[in-house]
Amino acid sequence: MKDKLNKIEEEALQAASVITTEVEMQQVRARYLGRKGEITMVMKGMGQLSSEERPLVGALANEVKDRLEEAFDVRQDALRQELMQQNLASERLDVTLPGRKLGRGYKHPITKVTEEIVAIFAALGFGVVEGPEIEKDFYNFEALNIPKDHPARDMQDTFYVSEEVVLRTHTSPVQIRTMLKQKPPLRVIAPGTVYRRDSDVTHSPMFHQIEGFLVDRKVTFGDLKGILTTFITEFFGQNVDVRFRPSFFPFTEPSAEVDIQCVICGGSGCRVCGQTGWLEILGSGMIDPEVFKSVDYDPVVYSGFAFGMGIERIAMLKYGVNDLRLFFENDLRFLKQF
Ligand code: DAH
Repeated sequence: MKDKLNKIEEEALQAASVITTEVEMQQVRARYLGRKGEITMVMKGMGQLSSEERPLVGALANEVKDRLEEAFDVRQDALRQELMQQNLASERLDVTLPGRKLGRGYKHPITKVTEEIVAIFAALGFGVVEGPEIEKDFYNFEALNIPKDHPARDMQDTFYVSEEVVLRTHTSPVQIRTMLKQKPPLRVIAPGTVYRRDSDVTHSPMFHQIEGFLVDRKVTFGDLKGILTTFITEFFGQNVDVRFRPSFFPFTEPSAEVDIQCVICGGSGCRVCGQTGWLEILGSGMIDPEVFKSVDYDPVVYSGFAFGMGIERIAMLKYGVNDLRLFFENDLRFLKQF
C-alpha cells in the first residue's frame, strides 16, 4: 500500500504538471483528492490492514494528501499567472500608435469649378440666382425667341415632361424669370443643372451650365468683350489668347462664340482642338430685342448681353480630363485628384 501511495503521488504530480486550464486542474484534484479520488479509495481499503500497519499507512496517506494539496495549490497559482500573462499579451494596447485618420471629404470638381467661376463674376458685381430644373416651355424656349418649329426644340434634344413642361435644356430660362421679376440695371449669374437627350465622351444627359447676363442703359458689345475677356484670363491665366467668333443664337443678336487658345497644344494644333489651335468655351451675344419684348423691357431704352457656358467642358479643359463621364462615376480615385 505504501508503494501504491507513492505511485499515486508520483502520477498526481505528473498530471498536475501538464495541465493547461483551470478546468483540467479541478479534474486532477477530483481524481486524486476528491471524495471518490484515489487517496480516499486507499484510505477506505485500510480496514484490511493489520493494526500495526494501519497507522503507518494512514499517516503516509495523510502526508501524501497534504503534499498533493500544496503542490496543486502551487500549480494552480502558477497556472493563473500564466493565463493572466497570456491575456495581457494578447490584449495589449499600444497607446503610442498614431490614431486612424478620418477620411477627409473633397469637393466635387464640378462644384469647385462652379464656385471658382461664380467667385470671379461676384468680384465683377454679379449676383447669383437660381431657377427650376423642371421648366415651362415658355421660359425654356418661347420667351427666348425659340419658336415652336426651331430645331433646338427637336425631340432629339429635349426631355419632355408634358407638352408644355420640359427638363430645362439650358440655364437661359433664368434670364426670363429674373427679368420678369426685376427691372434693370441687372447683373446676374445663374449656375445650375440642365438636361439633354445626349450621351457620349463629351455629352452627358445631365450636365451643368452657368448663365450670365447684364442689362442696363447703353450696354455695348465692348462691355461683353471686356467682361468675358476678364473672366477668361482670371480663370485660365493671363497668357491665354481669346477670340470672338460670329455665331447665331435665337436669343442674342449679334451672337458670338468665344474660343480660347487650345490649353493642350498652346495653339499649334492637336487632336483635342481638331488641329485648329482653338477651343470653344462659351456662347454669348447682345440680348435680342425679341427677348426684351417678352419680359416687357423697352429695347430702345435698354440693352444687355448674355452668355452661357458648360461647366463640365470648362472643367475638362482646366484639368485636362478627356472623358466627361468620369465626373459622374463617383470613383474616389478620380475625385481625390482635385
Ligand atoms: N443657352 C445656350 C446653350 O445652351 C448657351 C448660350 C448662348 C447662352 C448664348 C447665352 C447666350 O446666354 O447668349 O447652348
